[in-house]
Formats: sequence, structure tokens, C-alpha cells
Amino acid sequence: MYKIFDTVDEVSRYTAQRLLAKIKAAPTAVLGLATGSTMEPVYAQMLKDIQQAPVDLSKLTTFNLDEYIGLSAQHPQSYNYYMYQHLFNQLNIPARNVHLPDGLASDVETACQAYSNAIEAMGGLDLQLLGIGSNGHIGFNEPQTCFNSRTHIVELSEQTRIDNGRFFDDQNEVPTHAITMGIQDILNAKEIILVATGSNKTEIMAQLFASAIDEALPASALKQHKNLTIVLDREAAALLPEQALKSAV
Ligand code: F6R
Repeated sequence: MYKIFDTVDEVSRYTAQRLLAKIKAAPTAVLGLATGSTMEPVYAQMLKDIQQAPVDLSKLTTFNLDEYIGLSAQHPQSYNYYMYQHLFNQLNIPARNVHLPDGLASDVETACQAYSNAIEAMGGLDLQLLGIGSNGHIGFNEPQTCFNSRTHIVELSEQTRIDNGRFFDDQNEVPTHAITMGIQDILNAKEIILVATGSNKTEIMAQLFASAIDEALPASALKQHKNLTIVLDREAAALLPEQALKSAV
């Protein structure tokens, strides 16, 4: 299902409301969370909404999608740091319920397995929030990642390193590898919301619409999912065919 809004503000309000509705309906919900610029206004809106109408977060559990290898939780560009800055520092989710891959794990393979196992042990993700890379990645699952992958190490594509270079002082500082939940972990979520905004997502959203389910375009795996909402602003939706726009609600 597509949801298309005129502005990023409306996209963020809608997405924040969906997340909060899930938590209100199921205070023990397990949420899969994403980072990146798309999510900044979403999390800001969530904080605003919670300030106005407090929600019990004491039983909520979260698992983030990914983390750079080699960056500590204190590194300002680590996804751990991002999540505390944009969300967790302002919320009362118990620290033991918050999970992010460890970019400094000494045994990364074992840590990856443990991460997918921990998600499963919680009964899986109730709702996974996703952004999308300009090359179609979800999490850091780059093109050609197996759709049955679990949490694993990835070598970041050149495109992703260039796209994410904007957050670093120097392009050479962008890590080359990351840990990401696998596509299977994502597909196992009971509900998925993919958010894309802005003109740098226009082309990939048109490609995704037209694509078959194909490992060359990781986000196309989502087409098999029974409970997927794609939330776009007008810019990201600009090249979608009439057919998609008509089905949007
Ligand atoms: C981040 C993540 C990535 C981003 C994607 C889009 O945790 O998993 O897939 O969602 O790279 O990033 P932005 O929102 O910065 O364009």
C-alpha cells in the first residue's frame, strides 16, 4: 500500500502516528528501527507527540537495523550515537530493551548470529521501520544480498559510501563495512513501513515500483510482504506511474 503526502512534515506525522499507535495497542511491542536523514523528522515528531500525550514505553523493545563496523557507540557518526541523540535520550525505554548491533564486537560473526537469535527470542519484530538507499538497499543489505540472509557483515557499496559521506568530515572516514540485520530478519517482521522522501529517492522509488522481486534490488524483497506500507512525499513519488498514484490512499 502506498501513502503519498505533499510534505515531509506530513510523512513524518503519519509515520510517527503509526509507530505510536502500535505501541499504544501493544505496550510490549518489538520495534525494528532505522537511522538516516529520513528518520530524523519522524523521530522528532514522535518526541513531540509523546510530550503532548505520554505513552508507556517501559515494556517496549527495540532492535536497530544496522551499525558501522569500527565505530564506537560514542562516535558521533555511529548509529548507536544517532539513536540516543534523536530518540532514546528523550524517552524512558529501559536500556536493557534497546538493541543495536555492536560495531566493535571482537567476534562479529557470533555477535551477528546472537542478534538475529535475540530478535527471534522476542517473538520477532512487530513493526519494522525502513528507509531506502539510493541503490535500493534496506538496512545495509546492498544489491545482490541473499533474500534469506540473517544479521551479517557487509562491505558497503561505493554508492552507499558516497551517499553517507555527507555525514563525515572526510569521505575517507566513511567505514567500509557494517553489520546489518538480514533481509530475512526484515521480512519476518509482522508489519513493515518503508519511508522515502526527497528528490534523491525519486528514481529508486520508480525503479522499485517497476522491478520484479530481484536480489539486484534489495527493497524488491518487500513486495512479498503481506503488510507493507510505503510512505512517500511528492518528490520521492514524482516518477511513480499513474497506476501507483491511483492506488495510493
Ligand atoms: C539506516 C538504514 C539505511 C537508510 C538508508 C537511507 O539505519 O538502514 O538503509 O535507511 O540508507 O538513508 P537516508 O534516510 O539518510 O537517506
